[in-house]
Amino acid sequence: MTHGTIAGILIADLIRGRENTWSQIYDPSRKPVWGMAWKEYILENANVATQYAKDWLGTGDVSSAGQIPTSTGAVLRDGMTKIAAFRDEHGSLHQCSAVCPHLGCIVHWNDAEKVWDCPCHGSRFDAFGGVVNGPANRALEPKQ
Ligand code: FES
Repeated sequence: MTHGTIAGILIADLIRGRENTWSQIYDPSRKPVWGMAWKEYILENANVATQYAKDWLGTGDVSSAGQIPTSTGAVLRDGMTKIAAFRDEHGSLHQCSAVCPHLGCIVHWNDAEKVWDCPCHGSRFDAFGGVVNGPANRALEPKQ
């Protein structure tokens, strides 16, 4: 959000030909930063890759849908993929793919808000898989 605001101010100044002290900091042809910034960049991306692999390769939150209490969701393994399963207050089970349609991370159940959260870029889906917040612009794929 901060950088979006900065971009709005900076681009407007560049279009109008006004001097802006941030123009060198955000210049696309600026020199890359070496040292700690690169180390942090590499470590952060390694952490994301580890989480991604762990979510895809690990077991589900529960081993069967029968273990999901009412008004709760859980991720189940289904062969090579994962299912986001939600049991409503009447006991009916609603299932959709746990694969986020943005870039393929596995969503996690957020019991406090009763939604599916994507840990990668913050997309959020309602209990039935509908998009609440992007960047995902499609619902989780429904499953039978
Ligand atoms: S992969 Fe889910 S928000 Fe990007």
